[in-house]
Amino acid sequence: MTLGPCEIFEVGPRDGLQNEKRDIPVAEKIALVNKLSEAGFSRIECASFVSPKWVPQMAGSDQVLAGIKRAEGVRYAALTPNMRGYEDARKAGADEIAIFASASEGFSQKNINASIDEAFERFAPILEEARHIDMPVRGYVSCVVECPYDGPVAPEQVAKVADRLFSMGCYEISLGDTTGAGTPASIAKMLLAVRNVVPAGRLAGHFHDTGGRAMANIDAALALGVRVFDAAVGGLGGCPFAPGAEGNVATEAVNKHLKTLGYKTGLNQEILEEAAAMARAMRG
Ligand code: HMG
Ligand code: MG
Repeated sequence: MTLGPCEIFEVGPRDGLQNEKRDIPVAEKIALVNKLSEAGFSRIECASFVSPKWVPQMAGSDQVLAGIKRAEGVRYAALTPNMRGYEDARKAGADEIAIFASASEGFSQKNINASIDEAFERFAPILEEARHIDMPVRGYVSCVVECPYDGPVAPEQVAKVADRLFSMGCYEISLGDTTGAGTPASIAKMLLAVRNVVPAGRLAGHFHDTGGRAMANIDAALALGVRVFDAAVGGLGGCPFAPGAEGNVATEAVNKHLKTLGYKTGLNQEILEEAAAMARAMRG
């Protein structure tokens, strides 16, 4: 059976690598992005303009954006926590940016040293500026099921933060199961609440695979109309500020799974496997 299109938003060069201990040379990061550019993605997150004191691995993001061979039709994305990050991303030539909020106060403090409200105060001028140059802004919500510091997170709280990001102009809201604690039931419950405020067509699932349930959670999200999923080649990654949050769900596995179900992803499995091998070899 052939179903409609499904998109994988590749986060390997950012979420996949940001937590690696080895000081990965810029040239290796560029080579990985160049390989991914051949696979058929529309969007690849490959940079993060955060404090190098907080996330040393993402220092040199400007050099990555400057060094990659840009493929036609691919948007190269970067994380930006504040105006400084936004300005740096714009100067470095990011095609789109992402702001990142948390559904829980504990993770917000540990990740960006700000409360949820303070984070939104930082985001507002970014959206204001981005609008004038037609820069697409994606919005992340972390800890959509569980926070490593505060425990379980209520679906209504996730919906509230997703609604704020969407209302301020984010074109898509990526829902992060940061610790991989989600189950098909808890993901569905959360999505039902979020769908009341953001249409399913503007949502993405960002499911870490720590609990080994990311694929089952993708299925639960598919059943509720989500058609965009974040994944990292080689299943690398995690957030340095979320203890126990190991790998992202692996792009090559998600692509296989979606194709088996009958969705069209437009991705070349062979190139994904090559990129996955490259990503794994980059680990410390
Ligand atoms: P702060 O210490 O509160 O900020 O950090 P500050 O304004 O006091 O600045 C401190 C220093 O950082 C200063 O430098 C600033 O210039 C510098 P100093 O005077 O000490 O030399 N600084 C910057 N440098 C470069 N780029 C910037 C920038 N801003 C300030 N943009 C801050 C606040 C937000 C900067 C910090 O907490 C930070 O960088 N956090 C980033 C955390 C992060 O990247 N986490 C991982 C990504 S989120 C994630 O992985 C989850 C996700 O995948 C979804 C999911 O799975 O849930 C998206
Ligand atoms: Mg993540």
